[in-house]
Amino acid sequence: MIELDAITKVYTKGFLRRQKTIAVNNVSLSIKKGGSLGLVGESGSGKTTLGRIALRLIEPTSGMVRFDGVNLTALSRSALRQIRPRMQIVFQDPDTSLDPRMTVRNCVAEPMKIWNLVGPQEEEDRILELLEQVGLQPDLAGRYSFELSGGQKQRVALARVLALNPGFIVADEPTAALDLSVQAQVLSLIKSVQKKTNLTLLFISHDLQIIEQMSDTVAVMHKGAIVEQGTTRDVLKTPKDPYTKNLIAAAYESETWLGKERGRSL
Ligand SMILES: Nc1ncnc2c1ncn2[C@@H]1O[C@H](COP(=O)(O)OP(=O)(O)OP(=O)(O)O)[C@@H](O)[C@H]1O
Ligand SMILES: [Mg+2]
Repeated sequence: MIELDAITKVYTKGFLRRQKTIAVNNVSLSIKKGGSLGLVGESGSGKTTLGRIALRLIEPTSGMVRFDGVNLTALSRSALRQIRPRMQIVFQDPDTSLDPRMTVRNCVAEPMKIWNLVGPQEEEDRILELLEQVGLQPDLAGRYSFELSGGQKQRVALARVLALNPGFIVADEPTAALDLSVQAQVLSLIKSVQKKTNLTLLFISHDLQIIEQMSDTVAVMHKGAIVEQGTTRDVLKTPKDPYTKNLIAAAYESETWLGKERGRSL
């Protein structure tokens, strides 16, 4: 269970004439254990900032984050370190988390070594199990990550994260850098892993169609604030806020989701 309570983040820039950006403005939301919340909003609305605050990768200016009842914002560095493996992030660009000079095997083994999760005997079995879980052939284990396709890289990045048995994942536009066809595969992989392992997921996207597929609940972010939240079904079917209505209308105009498909799925 993840709870964000009245989170605000103000970035200040410059020394003399300080420029302030309110990236996140008094946001509260919660995701129940094993649930998936889609955070949607236009570029610059504060999604990434909020996602990182939820993991305490960024300190909020004010507000509180709780993970399974533990107040993350009050934890010491060492206590935070203990809990760290349980909270992970999947980035838009898999290259952010993969070292091209490492083999797939080593990429997946690295977090397990750092956190001392498996002994040398079990390590290879666990690597193969994780590769299978993310739909990669075992013979890829010896390849370097620069020898992989974008979709395969994102699968390896996911295997690295899953190696830590996390309870909570923030996926920040995890398929935005992939081809459409590969996008669909990686999304359904994330969804099935989430269900199977009862992961709590904060899924960030500017694409409502993807949010509809990935999330039980949705929060619509606009200029740092949540303007609407609820079950994905309700929000997409009967949006109340004008900004949400615009987002849905814009999606209607541009894509196939647009036509009967959407009517049917809702
Ligand atoms: N490190 C930083 N220092 C100063 N301002 C920042 C910093 N990071 C983000 N911002 C500003 O905070 C606001 C929110 O940015 P954020 O990256 O959270 O948006 P986003 O919704 O993730 O956008 P996108 O969809 O483009 O990824 C923006 O105005 C951005 O310029
Ligand atoms: Mg972002």
